[in-house]
Amino acid sequence: MAGGEKTKQIWIIANWKSHQNIGQSLEWLDQVGPLLQTNSLVKVVVCPTFSCLAEMKKAIMVGNLPILLGSQDISPFGLGAFTGEEPAQNLKNLVELAIIGHSERRQHFGETDQMVDQKVSQCFESNIIPLVCVQGVDTSIPQTTEIVAYEPIFAIGSGHPDTPDNANQVAQKIKLMHDLDIPILYGGSVTSQNSQSFLDQEHIDGLLIGGASLDPEEFVKIVQLASQ
Ligand code: PGA
Repeated sequence: MAGGEKTKQIWIIANWKSHQNIGQSLEWLDQVGPLLQTNSLVKVVVCPTFSCLAEMKKAIMVGNLPILLGSQDISPFGLGAFTGEEPAQNLKNLVELAIIGHSERRQHFGETDQMVDQKVSQCFESNIIPLVCVQGVDTSIPQTTEIVAYEPIFAIGSGHPDTPDNANQVAQKIKLMHDLDIPILYGGSVTSQNSQSFLDQEHIDGLLIGGASLDPEEFVKIVQLASQ
C-alpha cells in the first residue's frame, strides 16, 4: 500500500472508557478539533462516557469539527423499566455508532453473546452503527453487525499489541468464516508508533484506540498518518 493512492475507508475510533470527565473531554476537543481536516476516506469517532455526549455534541456542531460521536455501550432493551440502562432511542440523536461487547464489559459486567445480540438489534432499530468487539475468530457476530473490532485480550492496555500480520490473518478469517463484507478494525495497544503498520494490512480497515486516544497529540498523529 505504501506510496499508492488510498481508496479504502478507514475508521479511527477513540474508546475513552471511564477516563475523562466533561471538562477534560471538552478540553481534548479544543485541542484536537482544529487540527483535524475533513477527509472523506477517514472517519474519526470519539466514544466518551454517556454523561459527556450531549455537551460534546454541541461543541462539535458549534466548531463544525470532523468528528463523530459513539457510545461505549447501549441498552439491550428499549424504553421502559430498565434501571441504569441507556436505550438506543435516547442515544440515536447523539451518536452515530455504539461499541458493543467490549471484553471489559464481558469481564466486569457479565455481558454475554445473547446480550450482544440484543444490543445489536437495538442499534439496528434506531439506526445506530453497531461495532461489535471480538476477542478472536470464535467470538460470535450478530447478523446486523456493521463493524467488527478484533481486540485480543492480551493486547488491551498491555503495551503488547498483536503483530500486524497476525491481526491481518484474523481479520481475513473473520470475513471468510462469517461471509462478511464489513470493516474489520484492530484494537489493543495501538500507538502512533505502530498504527500505520496495522493500517497497511489488506484486511484491516481501521483502529479502535484506548489509552493512546486520550493524549491529544498522539491521537492527532494517528489520524494524520491514516490520512496520508
Ligand atoms: P488500548 O485499548 O488501546 O488501551 O489497548 C483498546 C480498547 O480496549 O479498545
